[in-house]
This record gives sequence, C-alpha cells and structure tokens, in this order.
Amino acid sequence: MTKSRLNYDQIASQYNQRYPDSQNWERGQALLDLAKKLKARDVLEVGSGTGFWLNLLGQVTGRLYGLDYSMGMIRQAKGQPASLNLMRGTATHLPLQNQTFDLIYCVDAIHHFIDHRAFVSEAFRLLKPGGALAIIGHDPHEEGSSQWYIYDYFDTVYDTDLRRYPSGNSLLTMMQAEGFSKPSLQIVEHIKNIHVGEAVLKDPFLKHNATSQLALLDEDNYQSGLMRIKQALADAKERNERITFRSEILVKMFLGYKP
Ligand SMILES: C[S@@+](CC[C@H](N)C(=O)[O-])C[C@H]1O[C@@H](n2cnc3c(N)ncnc32)[C@H](O)[C@@H]1O
Repeated sequence: MTKSRLNYDQIASQYNQRYPDSQNWERGQALLDLAKKLKARDVLEVGSGTGFWLNLLGQVTGRLYGLDYSMGMIRQAKGQPASLNLMRGTATHLPLQNQTFDLIYCVDAIHHFIDHRAFVSEAFRLLKPGGALAIIGHDPHEEGSSQWYIYDYFDTVYDTDLRRYPSGNSLLTMMQAEGFSKPSLQIVEHIKNIHVGEAVLKDPFLKHNATSQLALLDEDNYQSGLMRIKQALADAKERNERITFRSEILVKMFLGYKP
C-alpha cells in the first residue's frame, strides 16, 4: 500500500539534513538572481517548509513570508536566522490580499498541492503588476530529465510521481491561461550523484523519510525496494561487476510575470 499524502510533521525535525553547509545550491542562486532583478521587497514562498530558501533571500529583503500546511515544518522554520512571517495554510487558498508580493515561488512543493491550477491562480491574484511567479522542481514527465535509480528499484514510485507532478508543458499552459505573460522555463540545477556498488546503501536520499517519494511507501514496499537493490548488488558481485546507481535530475524553474 502507498500512502496518498505525506505527513511532514513526522519528518520535520530531520528535514534539514538535506541541506548540508558544504553544498552550493544553484537553484538558490537562481532565486537570488530573480529576486535581485525584480528588486523584490515582498516575497512569499508557498510550501516554505523549514524556511531554508526564505532565509537565503534574506540577502535581498527583510519582508519574507512563508506559508506551509505543516505546523511541524513551520516550527523548524522559526529557527532560521532570518526573521520570517510564517503562516499555516494551503497553497490553493492563500489567506492574503491581492497585489501584495513582488515574488511568489515554490521549491519542490507543487506536486503536493492538490490543485495546481488553483495555486497558479492564487499566485496571480497576490502578485503586484510586474511581479513574478517561479515554480522550481523537476519534471518526471519529460523523457531523459530524471534518471533516478529510486524509480527503477521501488515499485509505484515513478507512476505516483507522474500522477503528482504537473508536466512542464501543462504548467506553462496554466500560467498563460491565468494571465502570466510569456511563461518560460529554464534549467536551474543539474543534480548529479553517482553511487558505485555498495556505496549506494549510504546514499542519504535512500532513507525511508528522506524524500516524499520513499516516505509515501509503507514499510513493506520500502523494504522490498531495498531488497531489490541488495539483490542486484549481490548478483553483480557474482559476475565480478559493480553497478552504477545514478541520480541525475534536471531541476527547472517555470517563470511567469504578471503584466
Ligand atoms: C518537499 S517540502 C519543500 C519545502 C521547501 N520548499 C524546501 O524546498 O525545502 C514540501 C513542503 O510543502 C508543504 N505542503 C504540502 N502540501 C501543501 C499545501 N497544500 N499547501 C501548502 N504547503 C504544502 C509541506 O508541508 C512541505 O513543507
């Protein structure tokens, strides 16, 4: 059985493990560049999680707003050095006034929003003229843009992602239909992690709670996927070979401006 929704309260306290100090995040740079270009004063992240990206944007403005569904994630975000205005809510019904923000964005979150179009519509309402919506994440629909070994070894994960994520084309169409001018996409990060042989078992993203993809699996399905990896390693050893486990993912930014 696969769970239909992930309870972020349960993983909030470990979530920041994915942001080691040593890592330089290109998508963060893309957000910073955009905020600077817009001379953004009022910024809202929807699905703001532990506030990692909002804290980064503290370099550009002090008027930082975050909305998230999970109280546990909001509690973590309160620990960020930047002072953040945090609220609990849902992306499809934003409890904020029209024309308030210069920049609205979400990172790795749109696949959790039940109605993608409603979110895009709400973002359009809340943006000031000239403001921008940036939706950052990967697109499992596009052939070749995600080569992720997790999809190969864990049953249902890829199909679930195809259901949860809007395709890049449909996002651009939605943005256009809501009134955004010239919606566009750019690749803002190329994740490339390659684990050879047994080293894959130490991949932090292989932990059950590290990503929503695996956290949505119940224990039995998660263990079956792990067993498949271990079996493949054992078979390769017999053949005197080493398997390569790839995580190569293009992270995209879908961008639209409010005329
Ligand atoms: C993968 S996390 C990303 C957090 C943050 N954007 C980041 O990149 O670190 C997804 C976040 O979306 C939030 N979320 C899920 N469904 C939501 C909804 N309908 N409205 C608002 N936030 C939601 C979750 O609680 C979680 O904090």
